Amino acid sequence: MTSKNKQTIIAVLSNSGGAGKSTIVRNVGYEMSKLGSKVALIDLDPQHNLDLFCGFPLAEQMDNTIIRVLSEKYDGLWSLSPIPNEHIDVCRGHIGMAEIQNELVNRRRSEYVLADRLHKSPLPHDTILIDCPATLGKICENAIVAANYVLIPLILEDKALSGLNGLIQWLQVLNEDLNLNPPPQILGIIPNAYDAKSGTHRKCLEFLQEITQKMNLRLYPTINQSNEIKNANGNGLAIGKYRSGHKAAKEFRTLTNQILAVINQP
Ligand SMILES: Nc1ncnc2c1ncn2[C@@H]1O[C@H](COP(=O)(O)OP(=O)(O)OP(=O)(O)O)[C@@H](O)[C@H]1O
Ligand SMILES: [Mg+2]
Repeated sequence: MTSKNKQTIIAVLSNSGGAGKSTIVRNVGYEMSKLGSKVALIDLDPQHNLDLFCGFPLAEQMDNTIIRVLSEKYDGLWSLSPIPNEHIDVCRGHIGMAEIQNELVNRRRSEYVLADRLHKSPLPHDTILIDCPATLGKICENAIVAANYVLIPLILEDKALSGLNGLIQWLQVLNEDLNLNPPPQILGIIPNAYDAKSGTHRKCLEFLQEITQKMNLRLYPTINQSNEIKNANGNGLAIGKYRSGHKAAKEFRTLTNQILAVINQP
């Protein structure tokens, strides 16, 4: 278990594409499961890359995906796919989520659909990681309402850093508009795909240290740029399984331990 009694639901969010959301969900999920937590991953992104990172072919049928859960005709059943030889279940994504996003706008409790499903048909897992799309819309709002924690990966580019303020403001406005009580706790920022040889990356990391301090946000150690992470994703495996002794696998282990320390602090 990650926390004493309560189910831990973490939305992995960013407002820029390619920041590493799906990679973080896959690998932090894996490390948490290795520590004994029963883990579920939910793919809310219409691009559903997480499926590939988990070794699943892209689903054509909607029945065994998140579409079944979020559809208006929900039958009370989650459809989960277990990752072979891992203690992780995945609620797979589907391109049809793009349509669901439009359709949600006209529904009652449009931001609460996922939270309502998790409330009425609870998953038995200790930890649920939600992979969000890069565009802040109804789907991300559903993730935030359902979550009790938010994790934010960032790549070290000026554009991503200048977008961080906007993302935090978006979260605050959502919390206020929906009167979320308590709002999900921001676990912190993960600088991903860092290359210490790049002057731009080093400069951006320094700037990120300054702004996170000012914004009172926790900054986790970097996950370095590594082709092995790409290869692990491409092979449908967590880096901890693909090459458990690799530096990148150790970085994810450290990151996961630090996240758990924040979640479990009294
Ligand atoms: N630390 C890293 N080093 C090298 N490649 C990485 C690293 N992290 C992620 N990648 C690769 O970068 C790409 C983007 O990562 P990922 O898909 O996890 O980001 P995302 O935020 O989920 O993107 P999207 O917004 O498109 O959903 C992928 O090809 C992934 O394999
Ligand atoms: Mg993704």
